[in-house]
Amino acid sequence: MPFKKLGNSVFSSNNRGFRNKAPLLSVMSMFLYTAGLNSLAAAEVNIYSARQPFLIAPILNDFTERTGIVINIVYTSSNLVDRLKLEGDRSAVDLILTSDVAPLYQLASLDLTQQVDSAVLQQNIPAPFRDPQNHWYGLTSRARIIYASKTRVADHEIENYEQLMDEKWHGRICSRSAKHNYMLSLIGSMILAKGEQFTEQWLLAVKGNLARKPQGNDRAQVKAISEGVCDLALVNSYYFGKMMTNKRKPEQIVWAKSVKLIFPNQHNRGSHMNISGIALSKNAPNKAHAIQLMEYLSGDNAQYTYAQDNHEFPVRKGTLHSELLQQYMPKFKQDNVSLAAIAEQRGRVLALIKRVDFDH
Ligand SMILES: [Fe+2]
Repeated sequence: MPFKKLGNSVFSSNNRGFRNKAPLLSVMSMFLYTAGLNSLAAAEVNIYSARQPFLIAPILNDFTERTGIVINIVYTSSNLVDRLKLEGDRSAVDLILTSDVAPLYQLASLDLTQQVDSAVLQQNIPAPFRDPQNHWYGLTSRARIIYASKTRVADHEIENYEQLMDEKWHGRICSRSAKHNYMLSLIGSMILAKGEQFTEQWLLAVKGNLARKPQGNDRAQVKAISEGVCDLALVNSYYFGKMMTNKRKPEQIVWAKSVKLIFPNQHNRGSHMNISGIALSKNAPNKAHAIQLMEYLSGDNAQYTYAQDNHEFPVRKGTLHSELLQQYMPKFKQDNVSLAAIAEQRGRVLALIKRVDFDH
């Protein structure tokens, strides 16, 4: 069966094991399952999640305990949009949880989501972090910031994204692929702030300053800084907390301790923000319960757990940040441009990256 029923017993012993035991299922099996699922009348909600089990399982279990509504979930990392496109009207999914604004925007553009007009969601989630047409909502936010070598980069030596162009950084910057959603959003925000022509110049100059071809994920860039491969990298804010507290891989604590965090553009537009978020699928079979869960996820309880467990910023004002974030990431100015406007730039960004050939 594609959906795995959530329950405390599944998660109490070994979250990682669960993930391994819940491989992605084929689209065909999804079709077969849909017919059976629709005939069930139990209070339940079906979720596709690009967010990892360790993070959301405790929150979802808490929701089930409070409401009796059962959660069926499929963890899937990268093919959410294609999967939903293929399933079309036959999909049994209610909610889609993502770790970036891009798939939310794509799903809405493909007419695979529906509006949720909820006063609770609109009150809890600031306008830049939700779709103006209410097709998707951000649940957590993160900044894409500059991680810099503690020993080789002086304080205030770099303060803006634009300064990554400077010749002084020649051979000193590491980057993941520009085609990753995290980079696409940042580049989209640069287009909105500075225009397409400038952004092309910026990409060319940053490419010229790279210490090596773009490769690896966000954490791999921090590792490279700690090993002296480069001095600067663009990395999401929460990875610092995740690495600093990584008991399973203590080498990551060493990587994190080798960098300082620079929140760019504090004297102008603010640091680029992105979201993890949620959308209600167009044909959600359990619409009312799904909206109840969306509202729960925007509430203080769930927002607090997100912040503590993954070191993300709660979208809901007033929810406490994790202690580690309070220590290392004091209040900073956020670019409050709408995430919807950033996501709209995707086509232009992809064309730019191709023209600049950033990854090669
Ligand atoms: Fe991430």
